[in-house]
Amino acid sequence: MALTLKNNLIFAAVLVVVLSCASQAWSRSLNELASMNERHEMWMAKYGRVYKDNAEKEMRFKTFKANVEYIEAFNRAGNKPYKLAINEFADLTNEEFQESRNGYKRPYSSNPKSSEMSSFKYENVTAVPSTMDWRTKGAVTPIKDQGQCGCCWAFSAVAAVEGITKLSTGKLISLSEQELVDCDTSGEDQGCNGGLMGDAFEFIIQNKGLTTEANYPYEATDGSCNKAKSASHAAQITGYEDVPSKNEAALLKAVANQPVSVAIDAGGSDFQFYSSGVFTGDCGTDLDHGVTAVGYGTSDDGTKYWLVKNSWGSSWGENGYIRMQRDIDAKEGLCDIAMQPSYPSA
Ligand SMILES: *[C@@H]1O[C@H](CO)[C@@H](O)[C@H](O)[C@H]1NC(C)=O
Repeated sequence: MALTLKNNLIFAAVLVVVLSCASQAWSRSLNELASMNERHEMWMAKYGRVYKDNAEKEMRFKTFKANVEYIEAFNRAGNKPYKLAINEFADLTNEEFQESRNGYKRPYSSNPKSSEMSSFKYENVTAVPSTMDWRTKGAVTPIKDQGQCGCCWAFSAVAAVEGITKLSTGKLISLSEQELVDCDTSGEDQGCNGGLMGDAFEFIIQNKGLTTEANYPYEATDGSCNKAKSASHAAQITGYEDVPSKNEAALLKAVANQPVSVAIDAGGSDFQFYSSGVFTGDCGTDLDHGVTAVGYGTSDDGTKYWLVKNSWGSSWGENGYIRMQRDIDAKEGLCDIAMQPSYPSA
């Protein structure tokens, strides 16, 4: 009897414990739901996001929740050398994000100028420093933000021109992407609908220069060319060359000497939410984004990386930059970074 009573008491105690755990779990999941809503509200406030109605808000909340869950599970797993963050793109699906942000237009045929006729002035470079960071040499302007306009190609080309201008004149001048978006329209480049860095260099050569950001500020939308502003040149280039394709060693020689425009595959959601560390993929499956390689180095754990300037504002990545794993296969490189690099001469 005593034994039974004791058993019952133990049973009761266990039951209480189980119940209280269950109810804690229950209230925790309610809290989680509530806090996900709160987190969405706080996130909206932080990034100034406004939805047109409740239906849109509900739809965006679902995407936000799915992204937060993915990001937190990724970071908890901790099995990659990079971290993700709930950044300003957290209410966009990866497809939506790619549509609005990228805009590197893969050439229809490989550019004949490049593969056949282009020489590579750094081919005989033998000694390259073990690390390079063009920011510390004053050759990189602050991070810019292309907004919802697929003109990454203009930002990539402009950053490379800003770099060579600093190296050739000693002056770092922020130059105009909007001039390229509005005025470089007679060839393949199509403003917010995409373009190519090589074609942007070609435009700057033909136009005999590019004006300043201050004179022709960025609008994140297609506009008509302001010819007067476009004729007021602040920087000039004499030509441009392609780095031999699929050759990370050649890319190293070039980046050791100046900032270089590179096309990459930025299609994955890990790229969308990248926040820090050396990015090792996954990448998507197509060259779709133009950025600028502004250095290289080796991380504390010995991973070699390219230092890449992006144009998605400074809240993305490492203050607007990403370190991408380098020397992965001596060919295309991570996210095809060594497929189509090019640089201007001045
Ligand atoms: C590299 O060296 C080779 C052999 O000396 C020479 O023919 C070539 O013109 C050089 N290339 C450049 C870009 O200077």
